[in-house]
Amino acid sequence: MRTTKLPNGEAVPVLGLGTWMMGEKASLRAAEIAALKLGLDLGMTLIDTAEMYGDGGAEEIVAEAIKGRRDETFIVSKVLPSNASARGTVAACERSLKRLRTDRIDLYLLHWRGNFALQETIDAFHALRAQGKIRHWGVSNFDLADMEELMACDGGTDVASNQVLYNPQRRGIDFDLAPWSRQHAIPIMAYSPVEQGRLLKHSALLKIAERHGASAAQVCLAWAMRDRATIAIPKGTDPAHVRDNRAAHDLTMTPDDLADIDRAFPPPTRAKPLEMI
Ligand SMILES: NC(=O)c1ccc[n+]([C@@H]2O[C@H](COP(=O)([O-])OP(=O)(O)OC[C@H]3O[C@@H](n4cnc5c(N)ncnc54)[C@H](OP(=O)(O)O)[C@@H]3O)[C@@H](O)[C@H]2O)c1
Repeated sequence: MRTTKLPNGEAVPVLGLGTWMMGEKASLRAAEIAALKLGLDLGMTLIDTAEMYGDGGAEEIVAEAIKGRRDETFIVSKVLPSNASARGTVAACERSLKRLRTDRIDLYLLHWRGNFALQETIDAFHALRAQGKIRHWGVSNFDLADMEELMACDGGTDVASNQVLYNPQRRGIDFDLAPWSRQHAIPIMAYSPVEQGRLLKHSALLKIAERHGASAAQVCLAWAMRDRATIAIPKGTDPAHVRDNRAAHDLTMTPDDLADIDRAFPPPTRAKPLEMI
């Protein structure tokens, strides 16, 4: 599996596994655990989760999937903005660690900006890092102005990643946030990279897919990862989807493919507020 570098030089896989909507229904539990295990077997060893998903249920699914193989995984989790005070962040992280049944989270993100001062959350992240409970920290749903504000905080330049909505239909970040992130060597983590399945019948994507004997999902993922720095984290419970997504790693977009995507989904020509799902 190809890797990208966090700002401190640590390599992480460019293709991981999402878990939103997992841990919500007991009837899907076995299938969700199996899907994550399959993803790990296929080399997608970065797993993205959050205290919000399934009210902690997704983290419990992750714990089951990584049983006996914690050291081969890179676990990303997130604190809710309503918990992101100095004390609340630490308490939320400790609850997540318990549900994940691990002693550390590899990358701990602020899920989106809330009412607590960024400095307070950063200080809590640093306290957690000093205790070894998290290894890196980052943010999610931060627009360019948010990133600049973050970087101006004490210790803010330690941010390791920004997880944002990114797929051909939601490519506003191509105007400013993505180039800025590349310039600062802060990898973007692309969430909802197949637009939760809604993009997969788009004729332009299907046409490109056909040229490669691939799927529209693979085209979306290969496109998101085309800069060799962005990390895509598709969620799949169906094992066929997990295998399909893994194969996107080996699909390279040609200049013709990229031009066709630009025609169907024009690149932004001005700054737009960051979209969220
Ligand atoms: N930071 C944030 O605010 C934020 C927001 C949203 C998401 N996320 C993270 O990003 C992850 C991915 O985003 P997402 O779950 O919103 O959407 P997504 O990955 O774009 O789409 C997931 C949906 O697409 C289907 N799917 C996946 N691969 C497919 C394939 N190859 N062919 C056909 N269908 C396919 C899945 O079906 P099955 O499940 O049935 O296989 C599921 O219904 C989340 O799970 C979460 O970890 C973060």
